[in-house]
Amino acid sequence: MEIQHDRILLGDCRKLLPQLPHESADLIFADPPYNLQLRQELYRPDSSRVDAVDDSWDRFSSFEEYDGFTREWLSACRPLLKPSGSLWVIGSYHNIHRVGAILQDLGYWILNEIVWIKSNPMPNFRGVRFTNAHETLLWAARERGARSTFHHHAMKSLNGDLQMRSDWVLPVCSGGERLREGGEKVHSTQKPEALLYRVILSSTDPGALVVDPFFGSGTTGAVAKRLGRRWIGIEKDPAYAAAAKRRIDAVPESELRTEYLSTPNPRKRERIPFGRLLEAGLLSAGDTLVFDSRGGEKARVCADGSLSWKGGRGSIHQLARILRGGPCNGWDHWLALDRRTGKRVLIDQLRVELREKEKTA
Ligand SMILES: C[S@@+](CC[C@H](N)C(=O)[O-])C[C@H]1O[C@@H](n2cnc3c(N)ncnc32)[C@H](O)[C@@H]1O
Repeated sequence: MEIQHDRILLGDCRKLLPQLPHESADLIFADPPYNLQLRQELYRPDSSRVDAVDDSWDRFSSFEEYDGFTREWLSACRPLLKPSGSLWVIGSYHNIHRVGAILQDLGYWILNEIVWIKSNPMPNFRGVRFTNAHETLLWAARERGARSTFHHHAMKSLNGDLQMRSDWVLPVCSGGERLREGGEKVHSTQKPEALLYRVILSSTDPGALVVDPFFGSGTTGAVAKRLGRRWIGIEKDPAYAAAAKRRIDAVPESELRTEYLSTPNPRKRERIPFGRLLEAGLLSAGDTLVFDSRGGEKARVCADGSLSWKGGRGSIHQLARILRGGPCNGWDHWLALDRRTGKRVLIDQLRVELREKEKTA
């Protein structure tokens, strides 16, 4: 069944989620009510009132009521996920421990806990507790053993070529990004687009379907559209839904080709065995390879793609492991003479060239 996407469904997500086709969503991002339980107005030292979250949608009469609500929407989300899909939930100390336990009771499998460290948090004005400077995101698979989409290489690239860690330092939503009407915030808990950018890029492919059951001001939809993903938002408040629609309509349609919106996984590239460099004439039997640029050991290339070294034979990887004394990838250590330039190059460079040549052939 072809699912209608890029639209906001107005109503209670507990009723609407079961109407969406099973196994249609690649990602569900949920920013549910936190049940903040604010009992009194908050004031700054200069007596100005703090614009805290005291909305009616965040009020529950007891933890039991909140748990029942949580169980209902989390149960409704699970059948919607594709086997490779995943669920992200954001919360604070007020609710995230309850949400985490219910997730596990329902059969979801928690993959990571991400801490969003706010680089510009609101101070604790009364000075009676620590500044509350983070929120928590739980990332869960549909069930134990499910292989959820995760773009490790995209995250690494986004993080300056270092593996992305579970502590994300990002500012809260403010300035031009914050939706305002008549000077007032449109939504009290609008999330920063940077947060959603990371979530969506890490867990989906271009064209994937992202569902947000607590759409609010539509942050998820705006970022999904920017990243060439499809989206469905559910929101029970018509005023928020209208503001979200205006916001997303203003985001230009992504016309980028898929290759600009995803990160190739080097492990998924077609395997090129070392011997192919000989078949392609980039190396010949009898050529000398030097181990590492410091000018270490030398080995001779054999016609079958193995290396001859100290009277023995082995692959580029087997000999590299012996020479390094531990696991390593031969492509990253052996240097060959490039006949065309007379310079020593890493054999991996010759492999890259071959791959390019074969792609355009
Ligand atoms: C924490 S806010 C989400 C904010 C959103 N992530 C953003 O960036 O603007 C939660 C939203 O869920 C909505 N909501 C609460 N209960 C709901 C329900 N049962 N079904 C659908 N929406 C609901 C509220 O009206 C509110 O806008």
